[in-house]
Amino acid sequence: MRFIETWIPATLVSMRDLAPGIREFLIRPDQFDAAAYPVGSHINVSVTVDGLPETRSYSLVGEACSAGLKIAVRRAEDSRGGSRYMWQLAPGARLDITQPASLLAVDWARENYCLIAGGIGITPIFGAAQALARRGAGVTLHYAVRSRAEAAYLDDLAAMLGDRLVVHAGDEGKRLDLDALFASVPRGTLALFCGPMRMLEAARHAWIGAGHPLPDLRYETFGSSGTLPTETFRVRLKDSNVELEIPRERSMLDVLNASGFEVISDCKRGECGLCAIDVVEVDGEIDHRDVFFSDHQKESNQKICACVSRARGTITVDTLLRADAI
Ligand code: FES
Repeated sequence: MRFIETWIPATLVSMRDLAPGIREFLIRPDQFDAAAYPVGSHINVSVTVDGLPETRSYSLVGEACSAGLKIAVRRAEDSRGGSRYMWQLAPGARLDITQPASLLAVDWARENYCLIAGGIGITPIFGAAQALARRGAGVTLHYAVRSRAEAAYLDDLAAMLGDRLVVHAGDEGKRLDLDALFASVPRGTLALFCGPMRMLEAARHAWIGAGHPLPDLRYETFGSSGTLPTETFRVRLKDSNVELEIPRERSMLDVLNASGFEVISDCKRGECGLCAIDVVEVDGEIDHRDVFFSDHQKESNQKICACVSRARGTITVDTLLRADAI
């Protein structure tokens, strides 16, 4: 089930490779008014995976521009099929996308901003850096990458920020020390973060540990990053003989809905919590990939966000809705 999503037809105008495994796509909606959208906005793109329709969410890169909407897609090694689909597209391809929407609230009145990007997490951060640099705000961007060669938009960011861009390249032995970084930023700083789930968890702990208010750490997430590899797992429905297989390229939400066990949803990014369902038993391990539940709630394993979270082994859930009752 979808809420608040307006799908619009669009055309893929052009593509360019930014780094090995990272490709930028310029997409122009048929009815494009170039109206400004907030930095940190994302669009959903309708993709086809194994012949079935799926949705993938991508951050828009940079501030609004008249050419269209830019996204950058990393060809993920453990792709669930979305990046593979995007990468086989050619200019001129027709796409269905949603209107830009933003969940990354930026308070523009701060004196200091600390931006942190991990890998492809640079995509929503790029626009924030652009907007803050243009406003003359006190901003520093910490960009954690495996190597400079694999870092997207490095030259653009260096030109924009100069020495306010700090690259933490793993192959240069310059790993990002979030504890040290957050201990050094002044009180009242607003931090904007986008990176993989493990890095986000480390950032949250470091931010709280340094005594900053948690609401001052704003973040965007990758719905696909977890702590376990993306593999097939099984879901049993409580009080029924139904056991479903969730293949690596599909979400639990999609499989449940396709099987008649309707689960309501909204963001499909692990942020709103609307798709949360009760977990009755875990025979294996749950990989919570949402940012809705607290660490404590995740440890208790009583609920799971079906849109992004996955598991190893078999879990038994209760959707409170029976397929035969629909
Ligand atoms: S739909 Fe929003 S968290 Fe799953």
